[in-house]
Amino acid sequence: MKVKEFSSERILFCFPKPEDANAFYENIDWSVIKNISGAPWPFMLDHAKSFIADAEKDRNNNICYEFLLKDKTTNQFIGIASLNVNVSGEPSGQIGYWITKACRGKGYAFEAVSGIIKLAKSLKLPKVWASARSDNSPSVNLLKKMGMVFSEERIGIYESKEMSEVIYELNLSE
Ligand SMILES: CC(C)(COP(=O)(O)OP(=O)(O)OC[C@H]1O[C@@H](n2cnc3c(N)ncnc32)[C@H](O)[C@@H]1OP(=O)(O)O)[C@@H](O)C(=O)NCCC(=O)NCCS
Repeated sequence: MKVKEFSSERILFCFPKPEDANAFYENIDWSVIKNISGAPWPFMLDHAKSFIADAEKDRNNNICYEFLLKDKTTNQFIGIASLNVNVSGEPSGQIGYWITKACRGKGYAFEAVSGIIKLAKSLKLPKVWASARSDNSPSVNLLKKMGMVFSEERIGIYESKEMSEVIYELNLSE
């Protein structure tokens, strides 16, 4: 199945394009970077451009589907959500997400992750999972609200240091 752009009640799930690099760069900040494993800091415009170029390659190779989230009515940049179906060469269903500071607390992450889970179901993935820094309670609470269940605690790299992270997963095959 060829994955396409789609929408939910309030969100447009768009494939990131080169012209989105500035909006991406202007909206990502330390509150996002510190919670994303291995993310570069300081985050430069070139990082945004590389992210967009890599997203296109990964999408064309059916490895990972990155979506730039926009408000359906205002076209405002809301954040990013992704489904990685091939982590380190293995079939997978890893969900990733972040929401801009200005748009948090409005249910956008819940709606965005719901959209990504729907995509995973349409691709017939048996399960999806996500990792979060153990001390990232907004994210951990979100995963619990999605109905995902704790699977393991392990070490991840955040802020260039080893830190505890938790994995939550959701079985889609039932
Ligand atoms: C985590 C994050 C994506 C939540 O986005 P959001 O749009 O504000 O979340 P929502 O409004 O959809 O909230 C959904 C649920 O998440 C949890 N949550 C969200 N913000 C929270 C906060 N500040 N404190 C505690 N729980 C929170 C709650 O369970 C909430 O449900 P509720 O409103 O019924 O209590 C956002 O804070 C973010 O992007 N943070 C920085 C980057 C990041 O951590 N990305 C995830 C990496 S694993």
